[in-house]
Amino acid sequence: MNKFFISLYALAFSFSAFAQKESTLTFRLSDAKDKINKEIYGQFAEHLGTCIYGGIWVGPESSIPNTDGYRNDVLQALKDLKVPVMRWPGGCFADEYHWMDGIGPKENRPRMVNNNWGGTVEDNSFGTHEFLNLCEMLECEPYVSMNVGSGTVQETAQWVEYMTAKDGPMAKLRKKNGRENPWKVKYIGVGNESWGCGGSMRPEYYGDLFRRYSTYCREYSGNKLYKIASGASDYDFNWTETLMKNVGTRMKGLSLHYYTCYTWNGSKGSATQFDDDRYYWTMAKCGVGIEEVLDKQIAIMDKYDPKNKVGLLVDEWGTWWDEEPGTIKGHLYQQNTMRDALVAAVSLNTFHQYTKRVVMTNIAQVANVLQSMVFTKDDKMVLTPTYYVFRMYTPNMEAVNIPVDVKCDTFTAENEREKDAQRVAPYISASASKSSDGSVTVNLANVDLKQSNKLVIDLGGLTGKIISAEILTSKDVHDYNTFDKPSVVAPTAFKNAKISKGKLIVEMPKASVVVLRIK
Ligand code: AHR
Repeated sequence: MNKFFISLYALAFSFSAFAQKESTLTFRLSDAKDKINKEIYGQFAEHLGTCIYGGIWVGPESSIPNTDGYRNDVLQALKDLKVPVMRWPGGCFADEYHWMDGIGPKENRPRMVNNNWGGTVEDNSFGTHEFLNLCEMLECEPYVSMNVGSGTVQETAQWVEYMTAKDGPMAKLRKKNGRENPWKVKYIGVGNESWGCGGSMRPEYYGDLFRRYSTYCREYSGNKLYKIASGASDYDFNWTETLMKNVGTRMKGLSLHYYTCYTWNGSKGSATQFDDDRYYWTMAKCGVGIEEVLDKQIAIMDKYDPKNKVGLLVDEWGTWWDEEPGTIKGHLYQQNTMRDALVAAVSLNTFHQYTKRVVMTNIAQVANVLQSMVFTKDDKMVLTPTYYVFRMYTPNMEAVNIPVDVKCDTFTAENEREKDAQRVAPYISASASKSSDGSVTVNLANVDLKQSNKLVIDLGGLTGKIISAEILTSKDVHDYNTFDKPSVVAPTAFKNAKISKGKLIVEMPKASVVVLRIK
């Protein structure tokens, strides 16, 4: 090629690389029926690494500013998220946890080895009272996972009695430990990952155990229980089929775990150093990947439960990368970049579409573990990019989902499940919802690493003004916040949106999340 053609080629290439793309979106107002359960924005707190100890709880004697032992900075951050529900004590930890070890005077509480998570010694100073009081402070529903793997039916039955009964032997013990009135506990998990760390069971056997254990979870003093069966890991359709067949509507909810993760050659990949291929794989896995799994799992549930009585709870989800070098093995401490923020936005946009069956989701986990909301170190706390997406998305809780049709360019990414197969996914992810005060929230993510995108959104007859607009983006998708530089990735006011002739026009920068409210 001569020089002239090379420069023409380069010119054309640079135009196509930097030209703004255009996409069209249409609100389907006539299909806006299903409420986005606030529990979609649930959190998960496990006795794992520094999630509880150091992350939430420092104890009342700590020099770190606290209220009754809970860190003030984390408490405030969680209040700002309006956390609707918190799952505890695990995870894998739940099936080795004996709740009676975590009540009564702290000095008498036995210690145990946290076998699942690095062999750390657990002193049980954070137990039932500490967890349920935290939920009261946050005004969120507690979701307590029972020990089916290594516990007994009696232990489970007595735990429910201890937490919720007004009178009787367990209530007497609770009162002796300083709590007069029962707590309100709605969500009870009967085991966790019972196919794996929760007991390596087959679904037929677990189904029978669910029937047995849940029989003795009694409803005391008007407290209504929502009993949740331990569900499948992403593509295990046989587990769901067997439970739906053998347990059916005896369970109120069935869980599902879906992590955006995959191990290639012994590594899940670094949280902060990744190439474009791995980035696009991630975006496809957390969007259309979740859709594939939800569609198939829900089809099985529909077959056995056409009246939609059993809720699906994605009670563990999020990114799972390699642990940060130099951190304690088994503590699952990973950084959180703008890529994780995009995963949160795309996943939440996806969950909004399934809100009829998907009644709750719990991102893993709330502090210092996996795709966390906050990091803590001594008396410092930093908010992660994922935290900001959750905060920006709060207006969607309990609002009615407005389905949105998106026409935009797509990318193809490797599908790790089938050799040589690929997932085709859109660059633009969107959802919208209408709140009871009449305001409409529009949630947008542009996952394109190279190009901005002009979105022309047909509001389907909705009128109003933009009353707030925020953007989360950064110079580089690998950017993250640290204790020294806590605001590298933080939301700012967004100016590049307007409403004109019934259309909302949004100029979305590359790799960005935008949330707008219209009224
Ligand atoms: O969130 C970390 C772990 O992932 C949980 O303990 C377990 O349930 C899942 O495998």
